[in-house]
Amino acid sequence: MQVLASAHPNIALVKYWGKQDAVRNLPAVSSVSITLDRLTVRTRVGFAEHGDKDRLSINGHVDPKSEQRAAQCFDAYRVSADAPFRALVAESDINFPVAAGLASSAAGFAALVTAADVLHGGRLSRLELARLAGQASGSAARSMYGGFVYLAAPENKNHPINVNTVLSADAWPLSVVIAVTTHEQKAVGSTEGMEQSRLTSPFYDTWVANQAHDVDDALAAIQSHDFERLATISEHNCLKMHAVMLSSQPGLVYWNGATVEAIHRVRGLRRLGHAVFFTIDAGPQIKAVCDPDDTNAVADALADVPGVVEVMCCGLGPGATATQC
Ligand code: DP6
Repeated sequence: MQVLASAHPNIALVKYWGKQDAVRNLPAVSSVSITLDRLTVRTRVGFAEHGDKDRLSINGHVDPKSEQRAAQCFDAYRVSADAPFRALVAESDINFPVAAGLASSAAGFAALVTAADVLHGGRLSRLELARLAGQASGSAARSMYGGFVYLAAPENKNHPINVNTVLSADAWPLSVVIAVTTHEQKAVGSTEGMEQSRLTSPFYDTWVANQAHDVDDALAAIQSHDFERLATISEHNCLKMHAVMLSSQPGLVYWNGATVEAIHRVRGLRRLGHAVFFTIDAGPQIKAVCDPDDTNAVADALADVPGVVEVMCCGLGPGATATQC
């Protein structure tokens, strides 16, 4: 028997940057995200016919580091689900740039745990799977859920995260335009970057202390479908996270020239009356969230920015799913 799981990346509007426990990968701050459609990780998982090692290929290639992280994730699943060891073979296909700040690992781990669970007869709840995915990569917990998602960081290290959909994708169908400014992998990964910020940024403690306010503001904006309020808080929270990154030692500069130009383009569009705001993660890609009616104008404007190499449009999508095949 084989299982085919599918999961989508998510984009945080109120960001996760910093851990309170690096070993259990517990976030220091809560976050709010939107799960996308169209950009998809499809992962086929089955029991190995021979060998005693979990295997993973991504788009037909084996990357030893990713394979090892997948094996750790499967081991954590077996412990939580009380499942006996049988080696797994996983094949992932990703239809968007990998490791360039587009949350491929978030969707990847959400697909892995979801597939593993269906293969083992469905032993865990969605929340338990989200916690396992989050242990592998913090933002992966959010890709287990669709639409607008809230991830609550625990008050202390003895408790797990909580995560749930706060508004379905259908209830407020926004568009997301992603402007890719390079297909190169980022120089400093999120895990390393976050620790660097926690240890060295003079703004880190303030960032953590103010996050609850930003989360509450974003959740209120989402509940009332208040685009302007969501735009204001999302851009502010994104720029604050980048202020923490920039003020780390050595400074984490994830942007390139096209990223900055795209920020100005988005703000220019807003001045012209388009409902759009930007957000940027640990990479140089810009994600513009907009009203579906504004999608074409936003996509055209971002495609016109020198240095933008690709523009992708998507909507909001569902959480991870899996079926036997
Ligand atoms: C900037 O989830 O990739 O995209 O838990 O170390 O794997 P690890 O980090 P990861 O960090 C995502 C950081 C971010 C902001 C966000 O998605 O909230």
